[in-house]
Amino acid sequence: MADFVKVAVTSDIPTGQLRAYQAGHTKIVICNNGDEYFALTDECSHDAAPISDGNLDGNNIVCPRHGAKFDIRTGAVTGPPAVIGIDKYELKIEGEDILVKVD
Ligand code: FES
Repeated sequence: MADFVKVAVTSDIPTGQLRAYQAGHTKIVICNNGDEYFALTDECSHDAAPISDGNLDGNNIVCPRHGAKFDIRTGAVTGPPAVIGIDKYELKIEGEDILVKVD
């Protein structure tokens, strides 16, 4: 059953940055676009690269291996060579804590 787990505090992830975390049994990347935080699977749908090694370009996360882009707000593909999106997880802020809902 999915449940929220604490994975970070907001000050860990400056504006325009992303960080990799382990949330339960799931590897995730948390992104801060300056307005909100988003949690996505830390695995590119193209060839399984850890996209936390990439960077943020506005609301897109850019895969470091071949440059695929995904919208951090939805997980949808926004640039090739990936053709399918990546999983996005529910995230909530409690005080300074970032909690993510994972299986
Ligand atoms: S592994 Fe991410 S674009 Fe190829």
